[in-house]
Amino acid sequence: MKIGIDKIGFHIPQYYVDMNDLAVARDVEPAKFTIGIGQDGMAVAPITQDPVTLAANAALNILDEADREAIDFVMFGTETGIDHSKSAAVYVHHLLDLQPNARSIEMKQACYGATAALQLAKGHIALNPKSKVLVLASDIARYGLNTSGEVTQGAGAVAMVISANPKIMTIENDSTFLTDDIMDFWRPTYSDVAFVDGKFSNEQYLAFVAHVWDKYKEETKLCLDDFAAICFHLPYTKMGLKALQTILDEGNADTQERLQENFQESIQYSRNVGNIYTASLYLGLISLLEGKELAAGERIGLFSYGSGAVGEFFTGIVQENYRDHLKQDHHTALFSNRTKLSIAEYEEVFSAVLPTDGSTVTLDTTKDPAPIYVSGITEHMRQYENNNK
Ligand code: CAA
Repeated sequence: MKIGIDKIGFHIPQYYVDMNDLAVARDVEPAKFTIGIGQDGMAVAPITQDPVTLAANAALNILDEADREAIDFVMFGTETGIDHSKSAAVYVHHLLDLQPNARSIEMKQACYGATAALQLAKGHIALNPKSKVLVLASDIARYGLNTSGEVTQGAGAVAMVISANPKIMTIENDSTFLTDDIMDFWRPTYSDVAFVDGKFSNEQYLAFVAHVWDKYKEETKLCLDDFAAICFHLPYTKMGLKALQTILDEGNADTQERLQENFQESIQYSRNVGNIYTASLYLGLISLLEGKELAAGERIGLFSYGSGAVGEFFTGIVQENYRDHLKQDHHTALFSNRTKLSIAEYEEVFSAVLPTDGSTVTLDTTKDPAPIYVSGITEHMRQYENNNK
């Protein structure tokens, strides 16, 4: 049975920071950010957007009534959870009016959560071919103002419907994965910013690429020439480029040219959004699928990496007329309707927090163009609204 991505879309908040502005404010040569790190812009979430609303907005744009009736499993990959207990998936299930006889859970393993969800969704569909699974990946990357990680922040979400006979991409069965208990990046529950050993995290990312790629070749007997493109987890786009460069010379001249060209397509969105942790790999996939007319049957490799750490290399096969099922116009509009923040404005937005003492706050939601937003908090309960209902 063919199982894979039937629908896919993303949402980003309406604010962004230009990396040239950030570089000037931090007294850094702009080329370090735009070339050395490979980022042009960074999405900034206002207080009216959190991981739940970003994911719900991403899903809202891809679901129709048939999906709402068929989805019986919602899996929410995030490392920006808003509650130790209740899963973010339950809120989204309600906000999207999905039929009630569904499982809804949250998955966590840093930026790997959504890949775990995707693979589990595949197993669920194999057992229940008529089902559909909603896989959500949503995160807000925060390292803190004036930190070396600041340039690699971002905010956004990807939503995917996983089904049998998917319209966009099948997921192949071969896949290689690795777990190693390391401290390259972590987010203690008492901290709203990440702790990171930057250089070590870069090294480990590349070590994981080498391990799962070598194991994949050994197990499948496939080689680089069998791939139309490879999408990487993109903590910042230069990281993906470094990973590609470690394996590129295994391909013939045509392959090298093709993979480099398609890699450039896969980083276009991330260059302007930044790291969205568990959604980053899938934002890269959307960027590739929307930016390039791939032929049906072509194979795309996907490298997923979640610090701490778990990595996986898996593959998808592009389906006939897949472009008819993408939401490119909506995504283009999300980018073109964004507002650029000055660094002072960004710092103010970044520093805004909801109260943690149980008091009631009603947020000004008039400036948030997203259909689903946080309208406030009362007695420790976030209040969500969907003005599309
Ligand atoms: N022009 C062009 N390039 C320049 C430059 C200039 N004027 N000045 C510096 N550069 C280059 C440097 O040569 C360097 O390039 P290489 O990596 O190719 O050598 C690049 O810019 C970055 O410079 P530094 O290494 O000095 O940067 P830094 O120490 O300030 O921090 C960072 C970079 C470690 C990535 C930091 O931003 C960070 O800690 N980010 C968060 C951690 C992270 O994203 N890790 C990625 C792997 S972990 C993962 O993938 C999981 C996840 O999502 C977090």
